[in-house]
Parts: sequence; structure tokens; C-alpha cells
Amino acid sequence: MKYDFTSIIDRKGYDAIAVDLPENYLGNYAAVKREEGFDVIPMWVADMNFPVVPTIQKAVIDRVNHPAFGYFSPRDEYFELIRKWQETRNHVSGLENRHIGYENGVLGGVVSAMNVLASKGDNVLVHSPTYIGFTMSLENNGYNIIHSPLYQDENNVWRMDYEDMEKKIVDHKIHVAIMCNPHNPSGRVWTKEELEKAMAIYEKYNVWVISDEIWSDLLLNGNSHIPTQSVNEYAHNHTAAFYAPSKTFNLAGLIGSYHIIYNDWLRERIEKESSLSHYNSMNVLSMYALIGAYQPEGYEWVDELKEVLSENVAYACDYIEQNFKGVTLSRPQGTYMLFIDCEGYCKAHGIDMDTLLHKGWKYGVYWQDGRPFHGQYSIRMNLALPLCRVKEAFDRLDQHVFND
Ligand SMILES: Cc1ncc(COP(=O)(O)O)c(C=O)c1O
Repeated sequence: MKYDFTSIIDRKGYDAIAVDLPENYLGNYAAVKREEGFDVIPMWVADMNFPVVPTIQKAVIDRVNHPAFGYFSPRDEYFELIRKWQETRNHVSGLENRHIGYENGVLGGVVSAMNVLASKGDNVLVHSPTYIGFTMSLENNGYNIIHSPLYQDENNVWRMDYEDMEKKIVDHKIHVAIMCNPHNPSGRVWTKEELEKAMAIYEKYNVWVISDEIWSDLLLNGNSHIPTQSVNEYAHNHTAAFYAPSKTFNLAGLIGSYHIIYNDWLRERIEKESSLSHYNSMNVLSMYALIGAYQPEGYEWVDELKEVLSENVAYACDYIEQNFKGVTLSRPQGTYMLFIDCEGYCKAHGIDMDTLLHKGWKYGVYWQDGRPFHGQYSIRMNLALPLCRVKEAFDRLDQHVFND
């Protein structure tokens, strides 16, 4: 590998909630006392434990070396690099600068789009299990989430339930749906056929689509991303899509994402809406981080990252299947999150989820409660760590949690 995916970065003291959890994130984990000799292996919040591609630091540092940071507007390069990224990685054609717009965050963009497409109290269709950020931001803004559960088929592949989606849309008079493509936390990468089927339902009932594609660069085992907007004309004209370099390149702390919206009416309405707070402004260093990320080195870095993540995910899945009786999973096709189901294990051992989760934390495995994602016996695990740390985590889970 050309880039470094093996060094263990000590993030302690460097502004990372992944390892230095503030009180309000700890909840009932605050009472868990970590056993001596077990350091923290951060496997919860969705950021990565790899050094960034060096072109990012270089672009930011070069800019910092110029001693003025006044008002600015995004450089043409910002838009050109996004266009090139989308054309090369996602085979998008016909994308113009005007279709692209800055958003401080994907969730903020989702809320702005909701504010345009629905009234407060309106119903919105969201698949479950559900990324907790959707739940919090939609509820916080007064929208009523109607869940359409995904289900696992006979091969443990998560699928949309089209009949259920259609019924919920009709019964609840729904005119806006959120797609998470690829889906967090299940790790499903939707195929063209699946997106087309969903779109046919949305078109039939005049449902607008908000497509969160923040994970679209992180596909495993050679899978490829199909942008929701690309599947047909209805999708092209009725979807607001949101992307970011933050998940792909580990830049969440620098803030910054962008929308792609082809429909002029929709884009102009959303841009107006997101301008209302006067907070939705780019930070010059975040612009340079994107510029540094979308360089040729960034393309290579992501290709290597995907190999590393594919190996980590395969290691974790094989380990669980071979060693943790009563734990089931669906192999993710994208993202670096694993959503495991511990129902069999908990029932066989007569323990509840809190006990199980706390046992992991006690031995430094900071994994994440899946219940707020609507998995009654689920745990979400972040696998974006050097493989030796993933192995260490599974050894600890083996010796001290599942088979102690
Ligand atoms: C599906 C999804 N959307 C949005 C976000 C957060 O994006 P942002 O920080 O840009 O709001 C995350 C972060 O984990 C995510 O998984």
C-alpha cells in the first residue's frame, strides 16, 4: 500500500469524541469502569482512525501559511473538483456548477429540503433500521417519521419492502421520502433495479426524494454506487442528493458537504431555505480540505482505503460467524459499519443488551448501542481502524464478553 492504514494514531487529547467522550454522550456508560490494561478501541461514532491523505494537510497548511482569512467565495476549483469526482467515481454526466451547492452538513441539508417539501408535522417515509441522525434531526424539526422496515431475505441480505412502502405512503398521505444510499446502518448498497422499483412507487404517488449519499464513496469488495438521481427521469427531477468528503476522507471536524439538485425550482427553494439562518457558510479551510482530498492522490487513497475496509469487514464477519454463537449479521456491501444482532446470544445467556454492551466497554471496546437505530438487539460497530486494532477488539470480545 502506498498510504498508511496501519499506524495506530493516539487521538486522545486531539478533539475526538470517539475516544474522549463528553458527559452528554456517555449516558449510562459513565458508570462503566474500564479494566486496567485495556485502552479504548473506538468503534462507535462514524469517523475513522487512519491518517488522512497527505494532500489534505498540505492544501490546508499552504493556505494557513498565507496570513489573511477574510471574507471569500468558493473558488471555481471547488466546483470543478466536485464535478470531476462525481463524473469519475459515480459516472455522473451533465453536472453543472449551478447544480452544486454548499451545505454545512448533510443533515442540515436534509432538514432544509424537508422544510421546502413538507409542513411541520407532516409524515416522512424513512427506512428502518434508521441512522440516528435522521431520527434526531427530523424529530427536532417537528416532522413525523413513518418507518418502513427493511427485512433480511433468505441470504441475510437487507431488502426494501415495496408493498409496505406503498401502503405507508398511501395510508399516511406521504409526499417526501428519505433514501440512505448506501444505507447506514445496514451497509446495503442499493442496486439500480432496487432504486428503480422504489422510484416507481414515489412517482406513482408524487413523492419527492431526499437522498443521503454521504457513504457513496465507501463501497466494499468492488461494489459500485448508483446515484439515486441517475436511475430515471423522475428521480433526476425529484431528488435532492447530498454528498460530502467528510465521511470518505475523515473530515467531519472540518465541516462541509454539498448538494446536487438538477430541478431548478427545487434547488432554488432549498438554497433559499438554507440561507435563512445565515449560518450556512463555508469555512475557507474546509474548502481547502476538499480541494486537497479531490486530488489524484485522494482517488488512490480511497481505492486503498476500500481494500482495507473490505478486509476489516470480512475479518469481523468471519470472526463473529465462527466464534460468537447466537450473534447474526448481514455482510455490509458498503460503509465501514457493522450492524450485528445479538438476540440469540442474549436469550441463550439470559442477559439484556445493557449488560452485554457494558461488558464490551469494560474491556475498552467502545461499540454502539443499536437500539436507537431501531435494532432491538443490535450493536453497531465501526471497523475503520488499523486491522491490528480490529483483531485486538475481537480477541477481547471473545475472551471477556461472548465466550468468557
Ligand atoms: C447517513 C448519514 N448521513 C449524515 C451523516 C452526518 O453528516 P453531517 O455531519 O454532514 O451532517 C452521517 C454520519 O454518520 C451519516 O451516517
